[in-house]
Amino acid sequence: MSVALFQPYTLRSLTVPNRVWMAPMCQYSAEMTGPNAGVAGDWHFAHYASRATGGAGLILVEATAVAPEGRISPADLGLWNDTQKEGLRRIAGFLKEHGTVPGIQIGHAGRKASTNRPWQGRGPVAPGGPGWQPVGPSPVAFDEGYPVPTELTVERIREITGQFADAARRALDAGFEVVEVHGAHGYLIGEFLSPHSNHRTDEYGGSFENRTRLALEVVDAVRSVWPEELPVFFRISATDWLEEQGWTADETVRFAALLREHGVDLLDVSSGGNGGPARIPVGPGYQVPFAARVKAETGLPVAAVGLITESDQAEKILANGEADAVLLGRELLRDASWPRRAARELGAETHAPSQYAWAI
Ligand SMILES: Cc1cc2nc3c(=O)[nH]c(=O)nc-3n(C[C@H](O)[C@H](O)[C@H](O)COP(=O)(O)O)c2cc1C
Repeated sequence: MSVALFQPYTLRSLTVPNRVWMAPMCQYSAEMTGPNAGVAGDWHFAHYASRATGGAGLILVEATAVAPEGRISPADLGLWNDTQKEGLRRIAGFLKEHGTVPGIQIGHAGRKASTNRPWQGRGPVAPGGPGWQPVGPSPVAFDEGYPVPTELTVERIREITGQFADAARRALDAGFEVVEVHGAHGYLIGEFLSPHSNHRTDEYGGSFENRTRLALEVVDAVRSVWPEELPVFFRISATDWLEEQGWTADETVRFAALLREHGVDLLDVSSGGNGGPARIPVGPGYQVPFAARVKAETGLPVAAVGLITESDQAEKILANGEADAVLLGRELLRDASWPRRAARELGAETHAPSQYAWAI
């Protein structure tokens, strides 16, 4: 019996060796200021290298900021300069050498920028020192205690679109084979998508067409620098969990069809993160139905994410045709070799470094 989780998967000219992929997860471990701000260091190398030797087919390196003020925390990775590109080159090279496809998520944190590392208590870091004043679609704070962001002018919006293209170009140059645009979790692109955070009355706000404009312009800008033969992913929050006050699952399906026309190859389907009185029914695989719906209704390939922790659970998602790949987050923090363990549990073969061949 063939095991779906360990079948290769081809997108454009890129073949990923299996369907167990690593979700992007910020490490908040870069220098915050100075010439090495946002540069990947030893922690990042060890962290990603060990998930590659653990058998992940594709690794999405954490949300990497396209501009300094687009970092979630001052300790985030960046790709707004060439020093940062060189730090990431070492990681992409190691992953590729060991059979894991190197991918990277690029993003802008918008009104949720300049926050503390989670283990230092979350919440905003005030301007001055390592912190800064965040920007957003509208002067509406994310939550109590968060700053009111500066409303972006159309000129600044265009600048940010260009910064996404520049970051993608650097990612390609550093050796990455997949780039993912971060459109989820209430960061800048997601803030524009949702009527909960986007109160604009110009061509970037109001109608579905206007709220999706920035996302599609960013996708076009990234696609224009990303080679035809390599895939572009987009991460979305399928719903803000705010019903009609926010972005909805119906809008996600409509938007997925547009993303496909604009050259996106796979939708990474997450949810939530944009504030408000969201009620989220968190449980095993709780976001999978959103991915399944996008796949069924649009034909766009999807990756499912969120509380996927067991090998048979992951296998069923793929075997049922609900997703084309699974992304694991926290379970890969617990167990870097989860993919190789899952292969063993399911009786499948997967790639492993020769150095570990004794332990298959
Ligand atoms: C420490 C940590 C950092 C995260 N950073 C990011 C990120 O950079 N970009 C992103 O889209 N999601 C991020 N997430 C969300 C994960 O990608 C994933 O969607 C989420 O953890 C649910 O999957 P899981 O239940 O397998 O952990 C992060 C999650 C964790 C736990």
